[in-house]
Amino acid sequence: MISYGKQTIDQSDIEAVVQILKSDWLTQGPAVETFENDLNNYFGSKYACAVANGTAALHLTGLALGWQPGDIVITSPITFLATANCIVYAGATPDFVDIDPVSYTIDPNLVEEKIKSYQSKGQKVKAIIGVDYAGHPCDWKSLRTIADKYDLQLVNDNCHALGASYFGDKQYAVKYADVVIQSYHPVKHITTGEGGAILTNNAKIYEKVRRLRTHGMTKDSDVLRNNDGPWYYEMHEVGYNYRITDFQCALGTNQLRKLDAFIDKRRLIAQKYDDAFSKIGCSITPSVEDYSDHAYHLYPLQIDFDKLGLNKKEYFIDMKKINVNFQVHYIPIHIQPFYMKKYGFKLGDFSISETFYNREVSLPIYPLLNNEDADKICSLINDL
Ligand SMILES: Cc1ncc(COP(=O)(O)O)c(C=O)c1O
Repeated sequence: MISYGKQTIDQSDIEAVVQILKSDWLTQGPAVETFENDLNNYFGSKYACAVANGTAALHLTGLALGWQPGDIVITSPITFLATANCIVYAGATPDFVDIDPVSYTIDPNLVEEKIKSYQSKGQKVKAIIGVDYAGHPCDWKSLRTIADKYDLQLVNDNCHALGASYFGDKQYAVKYADVVIQSYHPVKHITTGEGGAILTNNAKIYEKVRRLRTHGMTKDSDVLRNNDGPWYYEMHEVGYNYRITDFQCALGTNQLRKLDAFIDKRRLIAQKYDDAFSKIGCSITPSVEDYSDHAYHLYPLQIDFDKLGLNKKEYFIDMKKINVNFQVHYIPIHIQPFYMKKYGFKLGDFSISETFYNREVSLPIYPLLNNEDADKICSLINDL
């Protein structure tokens, strides 16, 4: 089966994990800190807190930023459920802003319009979560300007964009956003199996997410009310077990070394698809804004199925029969039954995202995709 995404594991990854399995620490040992330091070095953050998965990273971010009932947090409808669910976890109210039709990331002009419309009703937006969808950075300069102008918190859901650059800078994410979250799920650029991290330059946010990662426990002498001995800890707020293991982090460290090479391979495949499809009718290849270098977690091709007189559902079923598992990223979140029922969103609310969803096909893209399979995808799409 040719899938849309897949991990790349080699002998050095296996050896890195085995070494930890033979060591004294399976979890809460030195490999976690090593991975966090490596993340800081690569992404230019002051602090990194590795956690169980990207969803946990989002959950802790909302808590560390103090989201609570009554707060409004805005994100894009074209993202994975977890980006919006973390707003719900905090008891805050999610709202959406449509995507820019070129970059497929949240449209800053519409963000500002939405903030103003809340203001006119006497309400304030608390935070924006930009999503670097597919590996294309958002217009972070504009989002930062808006965040400063209206005093909002800015979060980067950076899960798709590890290794991307913005104005030539691979360390852009923490420079613009107050908090950056990542996922290391196997389809992502690097993997730890399940895993994620929170990156920030803000010490207070870092300390809070670190405490919440382990049940809210602290041994910090500055905050302890008592100190009964070296075993002693206190809990001042409720936290979770969102820890990641040492063998996962050893894998993460080894994978991170190969991130640039992985991105190069993804870009070669994207170039092949661009060459194959940019001139055929009824399809739109992903554009790359001048300011960015795409990391191609996904290759979202838009196909106008209506114009072709084709049924997208039947097409996907036919492709599966010949072992090609295309995917769609994403069903716009505002039309998920939960969001419609609980918050009153309806079809038609974010029309650019909805049209995008109807047309989007995520083509297979991952470093181990061989030429033969990539050629097969090219001819299948050209046959359309
Ligand atoms: C944009 C986005 N945000 C958040 C997540 C959640 O990450 P995880 O699956 O590691 O919980 C994902 C993963 O699919 C994602 O693609």
